[in-house]
Amino acid sequence: MRVTINDIKAMKRKGQRIPMLTAYDYPTAKLADEAGIPFILVGDSLGQVVLGYESTVRVTMEDMLHHIKAVMRGTQRALVVADMPFMSYQSDVSTAIRNAGRMLQEGGAGAVKLEGGEYVAETVRRIVECGIPVQGHIGLTPQSVHQLGGYRVQGKTPKAAAKLIRDAQALEEAGAFSIVLESVPAPLSRIITQRLRIPTIGIGAGPDCDGQVQVLHDMLGMFTDFVPKHAKRYAFLAEAFKQATAQYIKEVQDGAFPTEKESFTMDEAVLAELTADARPKVATD
Ligand code: KIV
Repeated sequence: MRVTINDIKAMKRKGQRIPMLTAYDYPTAKLADEAGIPFILVGDSLGQVVLGYESTVRVTMEDMLHHIKAVMRGTQRALVVADMPFMSYQSDVSTAIRNAGRMLQEGGAGAVKLEGGEYVAETVRRIVECGIPVQGHIGLTPQSVHQLGGYRVQGKTPKAAAKLIRDAQALEEAGAFSIVLESVPAPLSRIITQRLRIPTIGIGAGPDCDGQVQVLHDMLGMFTDFVPKHAKRYAFLAEAFKQATAQYIKEVQDGAFPTEKESFTMDEAVLAELTADARPKVATD
């Protein structure tokens, strides 16, 4: 049985903290699911950590669908949320509904996530009315990096903090089942979390959110271009990867790999026939 949005909302009511991770492909989604993660985001951070773009702005609906399908094939239990990429929902409500629908119908996801507060609330309401669960995302909204002028902590002035509280309430009223708070001062996240009935999921938003989300490649130490301040490495797989690859290179060069163990044998009789055929022909004239 897959985790549902009701299970996620119930976790807040029961005071259970909600762990969420991103995943982008079959093997990592499968491992995360088997490890017991209840909530997976196929984030548009895909653009940076998998596709090598500078930001999330270049990620398309086709990119997202390709990876969501792989994550769905890899998971049996987790609720999978599909991130709506830049310009898939901002221009008008019917485009937003159509694209959100594709995430469920073609991708197989259980919910969608989109960035923005009050200004997307009506879009969220309409998508939810179509039967598509929506997770909000406020604070640092990476798709607006060009407008924000960089990846900065949000909500630090009284005006900006009040606006974030209004954004969160507008999303809840519009029917969002959960909200990601990204790069928000911890005391402000606490206030927002206390005022909402739906769970907040923090990333760089302090310990008092109802749950936490981390980018898988940051958490496992697989992405080495930069380490965001909010990321914690629970492993350093980049190092293990490089060590293993260096060992492989050496063993191929030395002839130490493959051995008999990794090779296939063949029938002796067939081999003898082949060897006989390969003998130089004796001249008959
Ligand atoms: O794309 C993503 O991975 C995200 C998380 C940082 C919340 O939106």
